[in-house]
Amino acid sequence: MAATKPKYYITTPIYYVNARPHIGHTYTTLAADTIARYKQMRGYDVTFLTGTDEHGQKVERSAKKEGISPIDFVDRVAAEYHGLWQELGFRVDRFIRTTETRHAHAVQHLFREIQRNGYVEKGYYEGNYCVHDEMYVEDPTPGALCPECHRPTEVVKEENYFFKLGKFEKPLLNYYQEHPEFLEPEARRNEVISFVSGGLRDLSISRTTLKWGIPWPGDEKHVFYVWSDALTNYLTAAGYPLKKEEFERLWPADVHLVGKEIIRFHAVYWPAFLMAAGLPLPKKIFAHGHLLFQEEKMSKSRGNIQSAQPIARVLGADALRYFLLREIVFGQDGNFSREALVARYNSDLANGLGNLASRTLTMIEKNFEGRVPKPGEETPAEKALAGEAQTAMAEAQKHYEAFAFSRALEAIWALIAAADKYLTSEQPWALGGSPDEQKRRGTILWTSAEALRIVCLLAHPVLPASTNKVWATLGQSGTPGNQDWDALRWGQLAPGTRLGKTEALFPRVDKTEAIERIEAMENELQKPAAPAAAAAPAAAPGAAAAPAVSEKIAIEDFTKVEMRVGQIKTAERIAGADKLLKLTVDIGTEIRQICAGIAQYYEPEALVGRKVAVVVNLAPRKLRGVESNGMIVAAAVGPEGRPVLAGFLEDVEVGARLR
Ligand code: MSP
Repeated sequence: MAATKPKYYITTPIYYVNARPHIGHTYTTLAADTIARYKQMRGYDVTFLTGTDEHGQKVERSAKKEGISPIDFVDRVAAEYHGLWQELGFRVDRFIRTTETRHAHAVQHLFREIQRNGYVEKGYYEGNYCVHDEMYVEDPTPGALCPECHRPTEVVKEENYFFKLGKFEKPLLNYYQEHPEFLEPEARRNEVISFVSGGLRDLSISRTTLKWGIPWPGDEKHVFYVWSDALTNYLTAAGYPLKKEEFERLWPADVHLVGKEIIRFHAVYWPAFLMAAGLPLPKKIFAHGHLLFQEEKMSKSRGNIQSAQPIARVLGADALRYFLLREIVFGQDGNFSREALVARYNSDLANGLGNLASRTLTMIEKNFEGRVPKPGEETPAEKALAGEAQTAMAEAQKHYEAFAFSRALEAIWALIAAADKYLTSEQPWALGGSPDEQKRRGTILWTSAEALRIVCLLAHPVLPASTNKVWATLGQSGTPGNQDWDALRWGQLAPGTRLGKTEALFPRVDKTEAIERIEAMENELQKPAAPAAAAAPAAAPGAAAAPAVSEKIAIEDFTKVEMRVGQIKTAERIAGADKLLKLTVDIGTEIRQICAGIAQYYEPEALVGRKVAVVVNLAPRKLRGVESNGMIVAAAVGPEGRPVLAGFLEDVEVGARLR
């Protein structure tokens, strides 16, 4: 019987729903996704948790401002987060929302335990309070200004439940000392140790000034303070307290990935709560740095938000993953700029990985009928490349283990560069047709394909979608993600393997155009939701009968429709369907069968050879029992909607994209 796999439980912070997701949130989630994929390859049974933090004052207020109930408000933003992670292809295993009943139950259970163990007492909070923002203000000076709205505060006295955090000063310091791996990176650890050494005050963990929260059991005028509620999500999602077996398997978490601004909550309050409840502590808290956008903090009021969707839609989700993990040292602050993103895309992805893959695979296709050649005798050049691959494997593993993604990628890209250099110096394309030369060509191309296979495996955690494509083109079964990393060796590419269908990988983009498209999509995304569409004005008497233009869509809606130039290869009528023609259309990468409702207006013979506009990413459907895989674009003219095929003013290349 196969041994059970060890578990690996990784979490991101749960995101506040009072703001929409931007690349800062995406950054943490994609880093967690990368670790999850890497750990899966290392043989772990991975559980990857993310979710949304939905209680608290700000949410209550935002919903009120929109005139909707808090639950309708949070449903909408939670769905936006969930949808984004799906669009980006993240392998989220569990998604938790703090408004779920199971979570309220977990929070109440946890704090009941803590209370029973003697670490909760009722008391009064006395201090400055901002009525406008309904929040406590730390500055104790009488009349201090609220840091949010700068209005003068009032002194209030409010009944609260307090957690006896002070009792955990020594236990926490001991714990940090005994478990240096608990808190990373080092700089954050030192910061936390110095904060705790400065003394810990008891912590107010309930509020009576708001309703949108989890009620305190048995004293329902109190709701839990949003952070005591939020941190508990990591337990709820692991099955606490009812699913005992599952909870015992998953808890403690292997790593909580967080941004550095919330380290205190995770490395001080959270372990103290767990100690107070007698539960084990997470194995590691890793705090990464902040992502700036054009050297500034991203914020709605500055108007400098960058979201993930435009990048994913213009360059692909893998490009965003690669850029953020390659450009910024994980753990330190870093800058995002569209210029740097597109420059790296072209240099590292299009010219780097994309070029190595296309050079190697095209030459194998051409010279070896699409089968991986058999390598002959090794020369020092092959030995050297194999050595580079060994180094890349060892380095990538070492750096992934330390979440040093940029260094892992550097090591993998050093192998790509070495393979490129190898091809350039060995020049397989310059060899002639003699048996010896063909044999030598086989050796070179096998070697370069083997380097590509290794790159695919090593880069998979960061570039899941594109390495899946290359893997399939290399004729490999499964996906890189379900290969056993530890069994990875140089030399396993089997000669004779039939290559799969070639797929476009990181086509080069025009820098200015790509930046403009990303910017335009972002502007659309940041526009407030459109008010309900006004009724279309009635057409003036005698005006042309063109239909009113329908509601405006965002550019990203348009770019979802992929249109290309196609060339009709064959056309025939369909028996029993007098309006339909069955066409085969070359769209550049393949020949498609498409049905078009134009039989009453076009003779089939007259269509063959014509270039038309084709929507190529429509889901296939059957028309009169005949499969149609795409749509031909035509104008609907006159009252009967006579189709007139769209054409081009100049001769255009088959497969060119319409924009
Ligand atoms: N809801 C709390 C977390 C509760 S966890 C029990 C919260 N939410 S948040 O929406 O503000 O998200 C915070 C997290 O999003 C950060 O810790 C970080 O992981 C990520 N980021 C948000 N903006 C970011 C940047 N500009 N840069 C890097 N990460 C950022 O705090």
